[in-house]
Amino acid sequence: MKIVIASDHGGFALKQALIEFLKTQNLQASDLGTNNDDSVDYPDFAILVAKKVSQGHADAGILICGTGIGMSIVANKFRGVRAAVVMDAYTAQMAKEHNNANVICLGGRIVDGKKAIELVRLWLKSSYEAGRHNQRLGKIAAVEKENFK
Ligand code: RB5
Repeated sequence: MKIVIASDHGGFALKQALIEFLKTQNLQASDLGTNNDDSVDYPDFAILVAKKVSQGHADAGILICGTGIGMSIVANKFRGVRAAVVMDAYTAQMAKEHNNANVICLGGRIVDGKKAIELVRLWLKSSYEAGRHNQRLGKIAAVEKENFK
């Protein structure tokens, strides 16, 4: 599985912790920045990850900013990207099972390293339920087709 990960300054420390965790799971995440905690603009990093997922160059993306919100707003502008802000075990699991989220967004100022690892682990190990959710994801794809270039 190809994973891409990026953060702004608000998520930098958490990104480093998640990269280390993913290594212990034999999962290599391509780190698309940022590379320190100097202030940067989160859209620049959300774009890097969302493009990779949207173009099929990555299977999954992880984005971290202060809250996860800004990253999700940007990532969801890309065709085929279903980015979800997850804050607890339930939202991490549902993001995959019901929404088949291919990007998760975390808040570096909301969750600590231990929690973030738990959420990423849950999201990765959960499976999309398909069934009735296919129809709903189909409607999302139709909106993209109609409104995105
Ligand atoms: C940066 O201060 C902060 O606005 C950003 O990390 C993020 O939380 C935006 O959604």
